Amino acid sequence: MSAHSQSNKITVTSLHEKKRAGEKIVCLTAYDASFAHVLDESGIDIVLVGDSLGMVIQGEETTLPVTVDDMLYHSKAVAKGLQHSLLMVDMPYLSYTSAEQALENAGHFMKQANAQMVKLEGGAEQADIVSCLAQHGIPVCAHLGLQPQRVHKIGGYRVQGRDQSAANAMLEEAQLLEQAGADMMLLECVPDALAEKISQTLHIPVIGIGASAACDGQILVLYDILGISMGRIPKFSHDFIAEAGSVEAAVRAYADAVRNGTFPGKEHVFS
Ligand code: KIV
Repeated sequence: MSAHSQSNKITVTSLHEKKRAGEKIVCLTAYDASFAHVLDESGIDIVLVGDSLGMVIQGEETTLPVTVDDMLYHSKAVAKGLQHSLLMVDMPYLSYTSAEQALENAGHFMKQANAQMVKLEGGAEQADIVSCLAQHGIPVCAHLGLQPQRVHKIGGYRVQGRDQSAANAMLEEAQLLEQAGADMMLLECVPDALAEKISQTLHIPVIGIGASAACDGQILVLYDILGISMGRIPKFSHDFIAEAGSVEAAVRAYADAVRNGTFPGKEHVFS
């Protein structure tokens, strides 16, 4: 099938339409072609090649050791498994310290791995980088809340934006990043009410992980929904394979639960 005949291919435009229509956006991570194919066949809207591959594939403690070459290798593999889902690729740690560096590295993902969007962590300080990428036709998902690439600076994997001033600052940063040209926002480990407020305020889709059922969509790490974990499964995730019985059934059960609003439940979010 040629790229031009893929009429059901998810695009940035269709994601924006889903937000306007109140249709939930379903996202999962993948790191290889075979799992990507299962996700694609199961109707997942966005497949993220996350730098979580540092932990779940490479066995590292954090995402910090992941390189642009690692991301390229896995993104090229994932791209081969996709026909329908939108491919989003994480910019790894220190690969976007200036607009020039971000452009060069995001360019590798767009040109060599057919990425349709890149994701980068950070708030107001990333506005110029988001704007530069957007001006060069590179869709950006801005990642706010818990930013795992800053784990040593913030002193651990903790819920962010709990006090009023931090909540106000996050809302302002989200608006600034939208104005800078971000096409999507991801909120990780943010209190339910704040994530709901940001989702209602922004015009671009807001995807949650440990955030709120009121977000425009949800994302989880694939291995967590398949019950494969080297530690404990995070509070905000759910082992879907235990009930579903097969990988494809688990992915479909997750997608159904997001679309019908039963995931995340109260037990998966933070106050
Ligand atoms: O790297 C990743 O998998 C992510 C998700 C946790 C959203 O950024």
